[in-house]
Amino acid sequence: MPDLSIDCAGIKSPNPFWLASAPPANSAGQVQRAFDAGWGGAVWKTLGQPIQNVSSRFGAVNVRGVQAAGFNNIELITDRSLEINFAEITDTKKKYPKNAVVVSLMVETRDEWKDIIKRSIDTGADGLELNFGCPHGMCERGMGSAVGQEPRVNQEITSWAVEFSTIPVLVKLTPNVAEIVPHGLAARRGGAHGVSLINTIKSIIGVDIDRLVLEPRVAGLSTNGGYCGAAVKPIALHMVAQLARHKDFGIPISGIGGVSNWRDALEFILLGSTSVQVCTEVMLRGFRIVEDMIDGLEEYMRTHNFNTVAEMVGKAVPSYSEWGDLDLNYETIAKIDPDKCIGCHLCVTACMDGAHQCIHPQGSPMALKLGLKPPPTNGHGPPPAGDRVPLVDESECVGCNLCQIVCPVAGCISMVQVENGFPSATWNQHVTKGLELRPKKGAH
Ligand SMILES: Cc1cc2nc3c(=O)[nH]c(=O)nc-3n(C[C@H](O)[C@H](O)[C@H](O)COP(=O)(O)O)c2cc1C
Ligand code: SF4
Ligand code: SF4
Repeated sequence: MPDLSIDCAGIKSPNPFWLASAPPANSAGQVQRAFDAGWGGAVWKTLGQPIQNVSSRFGAVNVRGVQAAGFNNIELITDRSLEINFAEITDTKKKYPKNAVVVSLMVETRDEWKDIIKRSIDTGADGLELNFGCPHGMCERGMGSAVGQEPRVNQEITSWAVEFSTIPVLVKLTPNVAEIVPHGLAARRGGAHGVSLINTIKSIIGVDIDRLVLEPRVAGLSTNGGYCGAAVKPIALHMVAQLARHKDFGIPISGIGGVSNWRDALEFILLGSTSVQVCTEVMLRGFRIVEDMIDGLEEYMRTHNFNTVAEMVGKAVPSYSEWGDLDLNYETIAKIDPDKCIGCHLCVTACMDGAHQCIHPQGSPMALKLGLKPPPTNGHGPPPAGDRVPLVDESECVGCNLCQIVCPVAGCISMVQVENGFPSATWNQHVTKGLELRPKKGAH
């Protein structure tokens, strides 16, 4: 049996899946039900001076039939009293000693940090997470992303927290910066034991085009909020990987942003995260998604011969290189499997209008002019789409992947490597050593 347990910056949990600091981790009732469902840890909804939230506070983008592909909120930190929160955290930690309970914090002055950290530690919590990421409301009051965007302030407040804390300190970073590395390094200089990222991305989710007001609407106004959910995963992966590959970083990462299933979580792990936090997908689908996440990760580890999560952390980081070090002589082309094709021609349109005009319908003037022939079938009767299977002009295909991306049939279009006889040559090698590049395609 693979061992899913982790130790993230000294915070131990039975598996890498943690609830992110957000509505699902707002109360003992929720966190305890989440632990019963299988979540390894939870970062409690951020504590600070309790606030008043607005009514109407979430929004979502639906993309071609997918509901809430991106999600947005203008909610602030906890609106419950510190006394209630601390009592509930204490109760939760007592009842669930093996699960990781991390307290997320956001206050202003050094004295406030000292006080709230002491009270958090008294609950028996396993770690602290400093919320330097909230991009709305709190930053207008000089907290949240206002701290995360200023490396000097980040470093200073982190160093206070580390000074006052006897338990591990994670710094939660904001993605609302040009480059994440200076901010991760600032947290490290401040003594952070690890970082969590990403918090939400500053956003306007949409406009009510009848009322002419931004959404989500609060009376006649709205404000910018924080974007999260499946749509933000690529941004989060990039920021996690940027830190993981930086030679001077080297502290554990808790990855967050758009995780919907075990595969997403695994991608964060392979790019350097030790634990993975989830908010939006739990808000949309509930705590039970963790059952599939545990099963999926276990199965992956079994089939890929990994015994521990630690063995997988950062395994894909070495493959992240600069563009100038990519092999310009590596060449792929699209191959259509005629036995899978349903003849929808989505690939034809995509290649024709959005790529390099090299997929042609059978019988079209170009197919006839080029003498393109349908690829051989598997011999078990005619291909299901018959003469609707389109034809790829391989001499012009630049291997951009667009047709594969739009094809609705899994495995129907494969990108296949071409042996073109040119040894590997990168742009940097071309410039510095004069290595020869293969002739360009599709540039006429
Ligand atoms: C409604 C809502 C409230 C949130 N509140 C907090 C918070 O109090 N503290 C915090 O650090 N992050 C908060 N977040 C950010 C999440 O913890 C997380 O970083 C972000 O949503 C990205 O993860 P996801 O794509 O899985 O949602 C909140 C997010 C949402 C959607
Ligand atoms: S890989 Fe790109 S260029 Fe090649 S056939 Fe597909 S869409 Fe066209
Ligand atoms: S998109 Fe896929 S299924 Fe549709 S015609 Fe092209 S190859 Fe066939």
